[in-house]
Amino acid sequence: MEVGVASGAGIFIFSILFFLSSAEISPKVGVNYGLLGNNLPAASRSVQLIKGLKAGRVKLYDPNPEILEALSGTELQVSIMVPNQQISNISRSQKLSDQWVKTNVVPYYPETMIRYVLVGNEVLSLYDQKQGWPDLVPAMRRIKGSLRKFHIHKVKVGTPLAMDVLESSFPPSNGTFRSDISVSVVKPLLQFLNRTKSFFFLDVYPYFPWSSQPHNIKLDYALFEGGNLTYTDPGTGLTYTNLLDQMLDSVVFAMKRLGFPEIRLWIAETGWPNAGDIDQIGANIYNAATYNRNLIKRLNAKPPVGTPARPGSVLPTFIFSLYNENQKGGPGTERHWGLLYPNESSVYQIDLTGETPESEYPPLPAPENNEPYKGKIWCVVAKGANRTELGSALTYACGQGNGTCEPVQPGRKCYKPVSLVRHASFAFSSYWAQFRSTGGTCYFNGLAVQTMKDPSYGSCKFPSVTL
Ligand SMILES: *[C@@H]1O[C@H](CO)[C@@H](O)[C@H](O)[C@H]1NC(C)=O
Ligand SMILES: *[C@@H]1O[C@H](CO)[C@@H](O)[C@H](O)[C@H]1NC(C)=O
Ligand SMILES: *[C@@H]1O[C@H](CO)[C@@H](O)[C@H](O)[C@H]1NC(C)=O
Ligand SMILES: *[C@@H]1O[C@H](CO)[C@@H](O)[C@H](O)[C@H]1NC(C)=O
Ligand SMILES: *[C@@H]1O[C@H](CO)[C@@H](O)[C@H](O)[C@H]1NC(C)=O
Ligand SMILES: *[C@@H]1O[C@H](CO)[C@@H](O)[C@H](O)[C@H]1NC(C)=O
Ligand SMILES: *[C@@H]1O[C@H](CO)[C@@H](O)[C@H](O)[C@H]1NC(C)=O
Repeated sequence: MEVGVASGAGIFIFSILFFLSSAEISPKVGVNYGLLGNNLPAASRSVQLIKGLKAGRVKLYDPNPEILEALSGTELQVSIMVPNQQISNISRSQKLSDQWVKTNVVPYYPETMIRYVLVGNEVLSLYDQKQGWPDLVPAMRRIKGSLRKFHIHKVKVGTPLAMDVLESSFPPSNGTFRSDISVSVVKPLLQFLNRTKSFFFLDVYPYFPWSSQPHNIKLDYALFEGGNLTYTDPGTGLTYTNLLDQMLDSVVFAMKRLGFPEIRLWIAETGWPNAGDIDQIGANIYNAATYNRNLIKRLNAKPPVGTPARPGSVLPTFIFSLYNENQKGGPGTERHWGLLYPNESSVYQIDLTGETPESEYPPLPAPENNEPYKGKIWCVVAKGANRTELGSALTYACGQGNGTCEPVQPGRKCYKPVSLVRHASFAFSSYWAQFRSTGGTCYFNGLAVQTMKDPSYGSCKFPSVTL
């Protein structure tokens, strides 16, 4: 610092300070280990696979005893999570909080290098659990208190939040927290994070803003391949070379607006889907590999790159996710964030230290869906769908919307040949054609898939979605 002052260069002091303050945290890239699949490798095998990816950290969505045991004695730093449902009770009872730490941290620590306890997951995005929002920060304080009680000082407490905690994120300097949470939850949260020198854990996916407006945002800009593509924030004059930096800095400016300019960011989740539905643009192996490899190169750069608002800062990161998880609901992308297939094969080669040169990777399959699909799509029964479950799904779909299943009633055009699969395919197509525009999906718990092939026959015409 002395040197910086003597040089009289403000900008120099600034970067030195950042370098020093961030020197204590290592940029080792981690991975999110989600368990929403019915075909995933066992815990001990998974830990080997995580090491194979050269991850430095792993984040779990609950304090799974088998996994915590399997991580014992490894060099992996571990983040565990207090499930959302337990937050309110813990916020009201120090005893319950102590019990949680005693059960889920104490037995594994320090052999398992637990370093972060995250309280809840994207709590402030769950509007149906709104009444629990005010309990979030009190629960975090209690957990921190319990850790202290057990003399565990190396563990930071945080909570991962999604980008929708902002009501404005563009330009980045206009970043502002939502008014419904800003004063009541975010301000006390920032106070807590600042006081305990913890991090603002952020789930941040450039895929979502890009895929919702692919004509306004260049794909290359989202994939760190922008070359000379830049955006200059008129509020600050800062120049951006990629979408992720813009998103991160919008949170930095939102925190600053509330009086907390110094809280460090931690990327709790980021990634790119390696596959998705027909109506989902840009979800493919080529883009996923490009995003994650470029990201990892940036994160591991020495000296650290940081973001335009925080040049030189270290950005610790967990990539989402270890596996493709077949039991996640919603659109197809949700089940395709993995670095690995459940059968342990790589979806594409990746080295989380960024040390493997690009030239050593085999060529990637060319992307085929980087332009929006144009045409008709139907929603039909997936291969191997369970007959019992199909019956319930058929009943459900037919009960929604207007005349959804009329053509499959006895005597109508699509009744014969009588077949559960045909009737269910009709019901799914008819349901989806009515509800897609309002967020309805073609999924039905894995019983349904999209198809470009028209299932209509004879005079029976299946409703379709036209893109
Ligand atoms: C929270 O506490 C209430 C009252 O003791 C109890 O009924 C409820 O089951 C608890 N919730 C959870 C998720 O443990
Ligand atoms: C800045 O954010 C506010 C909402 O917080 C919004 O109304 C305004 O349009 C934004 N400014 C720009 C230049 O986008
Ligand atoms: C945040 O923490 C720093 C360092 O401990 C302290 O100097 C600063 O006053 C805190 N900011 C607020 C707004 O509490
Ligand atoms: C960037 O711009 C320079 C000068 O206009 C040009 O020579 C170079 O090829 C450009 N690079 C890319 C990646 O577009
Ligand atoms: C693993 O699963 C993927 C996706 O289903 C498949 O493409 C690949 O061939 C499988 N690998 C092996 C070794 O079975
Ligand atoms: C089909 O689903 C039902 C209800 O969920 C379940 O009880 C049954 O075991 C499943 N059958 C097969 C073959 O998986
Ligand atoms: C069903 O019909 C009613 C009345 O015409 C309309 O308000 C509603 O939006 C329709 N629902 C669907 C799913 O099309």
